[in-house]
Amino acid sequence: MHVRRVAVIGAGLMGTNIALDFARAGIEVTITDRSAEILDRSRATQHTNATVLHAAQLTRDPPEVITARITACSGVPDAVCDADLVVEAISEDLERKQELFGRLAYYSPEHAILASNTSSFTPDDLALRTARAENVVVTHYFNPAHLVPLVELVPGSETAPVMVETLRALYQQIGKQPVVVRRAVPGFIGNRLQFAMLREALALVEAGVATPEDVDTAVRAGFGRRLPETGIFRTFDLGGLDTIHTICGILFPHLDVRTDAGSALTALVEQGRLGAKSGAGWYDYADGEADAVRARLAAALVRAAAQDQEPRAK
Ligand SMILES: NC(=O)c1ccc[n+]([C@@H]2O[C@H](COP(=O)([O-])OP(=O)(O)OC[C@H]3O[C@@H](n4cnc5c(N)ncnc54)[C@H](O)[C@@H]3O)[C@@H](O)[C@H]2O)c1
Repeated sequence: MHVRRVAVIGAGLMGTNIALDFARAGIEVTITDRSAEILDRSRATQHTNATVLHAAQLTRDPPEVITARITACSGVPDAVCDADLVVEAISEDLERKQELFGRLAYYSPEHAILASNTSSFTPDDLALRTARAENVVVTHYFNPAHLVPLVELVPGSETAPVMVETLRALYQQIGKQPVVVRRAVPGFIGNRLQFAMLREALALVEAGVATPEDVDTAVRAGFGRRLPETGIFRTFDLGGLDTIHTICGILFPHLDVRTDAGSALTALVEQGRLGAKSGAGWYDYADGEADAVRARLAAALVRAAAQDQEPRAK
């Protein structure tokens, strides 16, 4: 199956950059949301982000050429009627997603892959009210979707293998790094690992072992330096598996096993300290600090993406 046209439903944080990522690769994209204002805002963001990609030589096409490949549509039927692949990126609301997947099966071509960027629902959950469960698959991106290469591909119990294979080939062709999750489990791979680390970080802070700043330094200046190169399993291969085996036996009984968010995070949320968006969380974000942090992160991701491209350019 050849994917020539992609439709993105939901033009928020994720859908905006998912659409941009396909357009950057030369694919025609349609996008829709609930209002013209949201679509206008999404287009402006796509233009800004395409300008950054062009300036960093991550694309040869000027921003105007990339954004010209993205057509805003006023409704789902218009957006999906000619699509080979539909990527749903609406709010994380199961009822709403199920209703949408029912409509997608009705309005899209019979061969169209029906994908969802859901963070927590399984393809089986999403396909409950669609006539085409064999076309439904999760394609889970990470924010910002145009700069983070991983896409987790998660088939459901009824998903046809050709859907996964087509997506895997497509993503490889456009420079993403797809990983097929063999069985749909909550959090897939990436979020399970991130939240396992968060649970232990919360426990260390609550027990007074370390401050949030100390934890972040330990990650950024310590084992975090190795992760982009060797991941988890190769890192421990280098450490020596006999030693690691011994340490597991000593350390695992001490690791946190809580099943709720715990006191420290709950207290912040109750105080309205919701992170960068409210001006304070674990850190304070006065005087444009949140924008400065976002800019440093974006610059680091752009540098990493440029490094990824180096071998391909040779
Ligand atoms: N934010 C993240 O870091 C992240 C990462 C990975 C996956 N996700 C998942 O991606 C999806 C979107 O998240 P987001 O952060 O972009 O949310 P968002 O709130 O920024 O965007 C969601 C958009 O969907 C639109 N929408 C809602 N219902 C709709 C409908 N029926 N038809 C058309 N448009 C509709 C909203 O108007 C909004 O613009 C969620 O499923 C989320 O779990 C988010």
